[in-house]
Amino acid sequence: MVKQENAVVPTSTRACILIVDDDPKNRMALQELLQSSGHEVVLAASGEDALRCVLRQDFAVILMDARLPGVDGFTAARTIRERERSRSTPIIFLTGAYEDLPSMFRGYEAGAVDYIVKPLVPEVLTFKIAIFVDLYNKNAALTREIAERRRAEEHLRKSEENLRALAARLQSVREEEWTRIAREIHDELGQALTGLKMDLTWVAKKLPGDQKALNAKTRSMFDLIDSTIQSVRKIATRLRPEVLDDLGLAAAIEWQAKDFQKRSGTRCKLSLPSEALALDRERSTAVFRVFQELLTNAARHADATRIDIAMHVDSGSLVLKVEDNGKGIEESAMFSPKSLGLLGMRERVLPFGGSIAIAGARNQGTKVTVSIPLGLK
Ligand SMILES: Nc1ncnc2c1ncn2[C@@H]1O[C@H](COP(=O)(O)OP(=O)(O)OP(=O)(O)O)[C@@H](O)[C@H]1O
Ligand SMILES: [Mg+2]
Repeated sequence: MVKQENAVVPTSTRACILIVDDDPKNRMALQELLQSSGHEVVLAASGEDALRCVLRQDFAVILMDARLPGVDGFTAARTIRERERSRSTPIIFLTGAYEDLPSMFRGYEAGAVDYIVKPLVPEVLTFKIAIFVDLYNKNAALTREIAERRRAEEHLRKSEENLRALAARLQSVREEEWTRIAREIHDELGQALTGLKMDLTWVAKKLPGDQKALNAKTRSMFDLIDSTIQSVRKIATRLRPEVLDDLGLAAAIEWQAKDFQKRSGTRCKLSLPSEALALDRERSTAVFRVFQELLTNAARHADATRIDIAMHVDSGSLVLKVEDNGKGIEESAMFSPKSLGLLGMRERVLPFGGSIAIAGARNQGTKVTVSIPLGLK
């Protein structure tokens, strides 16, 4: 390798031209011509030198003398073309006027993009080189843009993952909080009210029968205590139904459907698995909350008279179908970013690899299918 090119290997991504010629005078002339047009050049004195240079960096274009001692220009070009990174580096052969047609074909076969016959016309050469350098620069810009986009996509994917994890965490913290509050309301208020009722029973027994006004007052106090006990139970159950923790998802769904039917007057038809489900607490909670949301939606939007609820296990997944006979969800509402209830349901089952499919037809009701892979109990 000639001395200079060790010093001129560019570290920047600027387009660089490789000049391969065994004649020092030719090399020098080409170098001066190209450098004076503002190009960066690397010099190689032989085919072997050229291969070494190509291994070290990328070139916008290679000017290759066809006749070289040792590895000739054609062989060097072929080897360059075989390498993945330099597969599409343009190679221009420089040949003497004496070159015959068959050897020109050899050059094209070896991957030449052009031939320039010596003696060179500087304007023609610089014009051609400028085109390849421009192409190289555009390519480099495109490559940078692609890399930039990939980075941005990766960043977006990561932050989406983080947000999902955060949302799932918030959800489970909220669920724990509700469970705790439900237990405290149930235990502490429940106990206090029971104590109060016992005391009132004691007072009532002590009251003489002729104290009509006081007796009436204690009766209304009993009624008030009983209805407060009912309210406390209702509030605790709404926060976290005990049946879900005690008897499992199927029982909780049955209880919720019956309660819904009683309150809304909408008939609920149930088809639930008789055997126990191998579903952990987190998954059960997720499906149960989705179910509650679906009933709320049916009550608020469907105008339905009947809801069919079916749950079964299908190839390792729990499938819950809720179908109403109402007016049918609009297609636009299914995937609207404003449908936060639906979005929340999807996010609920996503951490477990679950999914929610919604279908609706005008005046033919809405059908929602929730499926969630079973976990170990
Ligand atoms: N069973 C249904 N029948 C008909 N339309 C429905 C049904 N369920 C949902 N929709 C439509 O889809 C929309 C989005 O539902 P989503 O649950 O996301 O929001 P929402 O119920 O309006 O508000 P919230 O955030 O309180 O749940 C509803 O506004 C309604 O128009
Ligand atoms: Mg809703």
